[in-house]
Amino acid sequence: PAKVRIHHLQQAKREGTRFAMLTAYDQYTAEIFDAAGIEVLLVGDSASNNVFGNETSLPVTVDELLPLCRAVARTAKRALVVADLPFGSYEVSAEQAVATGVRFLKEGLAHAVKIEGGAFYAPTVRAMVQAGVPVMAHIGFTPQSEHALGGYRVQGRGDDARRLIDDAVALADAGAFCVLMEMVPAETAAAVDAAVDVPTVGIGAGKETTGQVLVWQDMAGLRGGRMAKFVKQYADLRSTLMEAATAYGEDVRSGQFPGPEHSF
Ligand code: KIV
Ligand code: NA
Repeated sequence: PAKVRIHHLQQAKREGTRFAMLTAYDQYTAEIFDAAGIEVLLVGDSASNNVFGNETSLPVTVDELLPLCRAVARTAKRALVVADLPFGSYEVSAEQAVATGVRFLKEGLAHAVKIEGGAFYAPTVRAMVQAGVPVMAHIGFTPQSEHALGGYRVQGRGDDARRLIDDAVALADAGAFCVLMEMVPAETAAAVDAAVDVPTVGIGAGKETTGQVLVWQDMAGLRGGRMAKFVKQYADLRSTLMEAATAYGEDVRSGQFPGPEHSF
């Protein structure tokens, strides 16, 4: 099947169809999600707290994320591969953002990058797009700013909806090819989607966005603990792996494995 390109996502917005996005951080997930027809794979900075064992997305570095991105991009045959620019790798200046974005396309083999932030980052987006780095904008709840925002809180409620609309319009005008919204009331997200010509993606943002995204370990039930309200679990991989590992351990200890069929 033909590669998913940015213009296909834009076509979806025009035609009123939807596309799906999932995070991926390694070869097999990239291979499976790509074969499943997921249009966009995000090498999220959520690798920080889903791969590297951190509590938040803040500690992950460019050098940690680049090899994961390379693995996903090398494996995916069809999906558009988008990489998050980690906290601290683009905020200082447009020059810093261009340099980091170029690294993700050159060394990470990503097709596009994502940065968090509102209208303030419009000049940054413009510089990156000018340099040949396609940018997805991430507004609403932006996890890299969790300390500044005072925790995981819904953004764009009531009068604050206007701010999100202004952010989205400014970022789209600056050349962002897509606007992702996290933890935004469905009504606000619909208003944002209506205000811009570019496709939108939602996570906890209702169903009126062009696309939807979830962290794959949440979607597939690999992660334990409390799930956010916006997560739907489509599998219970945690139980599957727990049972497999437990059975293997018991077989080894009891001498059931390896059997004659596994021996030379
Ligand atoms: O890092 C991430 O996984 C994300 C999304 C879930 C939007 O940014
Ligand atoms: Na992210």
